[in-house]
Amino acid sequence: YPGLGALASLAGIYFGTAIDNVVLNNTAYTTIAHNASEFNQVTPSNAQKWMYTEPSRNVFTYTNASAIFNPARAAHQLRRCHTFVWHNQLPDWLTNGNWTAATLKPVLENHIKNVAREFREDCFAWDVVNEAFEDDGSLRKSIWLEVLGKEYIEWAFVWARKYTEGKAKLYYNDYGIERVNNKSLAVREMVKDFLARDIPIDGVGLQSHFTVGRAPTYDEVTAALNLYTPYHPTIETALTELDVRILLPSTPATRTLQANVYVNATRACVEMASCVGVTVWDFWDPVSWVPESFPGYGEACLFDEGLGRKEAYFEVKEYL
Ligand code: XIL
Repeated sequence: YPGLGALASLAGIYFGTAIDNVVLNNTAYTTIAHNASEFNQVTPSNAQKWMYTEPSRNVFTYTNASAIFNPARAAHQLRRCHTFVWHNQLPDWLTNGNWTAATLKPVLENHIKNVAREFREDCFAWDVVNEAFEDDGSLRKSIWLEVLGKEYIEWAFVWARKYTEGKAKLYYNDYGIERVNNKSLAVREMVKDFLARDIPIDGVGLQSHFTVGRAPTYDEVTAALNLYTPYHPTIETALTELDVRILLPSTPATRTLQANVYVNATRACVEMASCVGVTVWDFWDPVSWVPESFPGYGEACLFDEGLGRKEAYFEVKEYL
């Protein structure tokens, strides 16, 4: 009987999950994670980040990503790839290097070239650049901005198009752009500018890390997705890292609110022509990044500690 992925596909989108390498030895988990009826798309939570794929300069390792993609391929799950350019989870040799634009630019190209080629047959989409904007709409300070200047973003997209040989949808991905605000407006301006100048870009990923009580409504997510409607079908959208954290301890009331947030987000995607799918940033509470990153919050996923399906799961399923 159908899971979220199968139902989503009838509704015209995919429904996927992030998968982290730390739980691949848990077969109860992997049985669900690689069941294409439940999740017909997967994203590696960490495996394709720079610190894992190029731990030493020009030494590339793909073991973690393969451990997720091999079973995903066998299960006919779509693979979203994450991420080429980010300010976090960089290897020390990169962070601590004494770079100039002339020395760092070829490092970035070489990274995208190798990783894109390795996963050329896997990735239907790549998060080319992740989290490059601040909430006020300015560009985030990072090694990339500081050493290369703002052009690093468009260079990454140009190299990504070249080395994926046009086989992947190229996404800009960020959090906090699930409402119309200074940040999402800045992302929209970038998309518009790229299209006007023929810089390749195919999609915008709205991460969608939400908090019960502060989450955007259905109308707000719809308005945020709608920012890209003038550029659709050239530009598609997706909810790429959906989770809904609760201030602990949770109560029946906050768990019901959480279910509403999951449903509203999923519905906003289903009903928006440009939105191709929803990915939850893991489906299982014990591997969620939330408790570590947001102390006091948790229970953000669709499945509880005992791998039981939660109210949010059943409500999303009921909606789909
Ligand atoms: C998180 C992972 O889930 C954690 O395991 C890791 O320790 C830190 O990164 N936005 C992103 C993701 O784009 O890559 C992040 O993933 C969560 C926030």
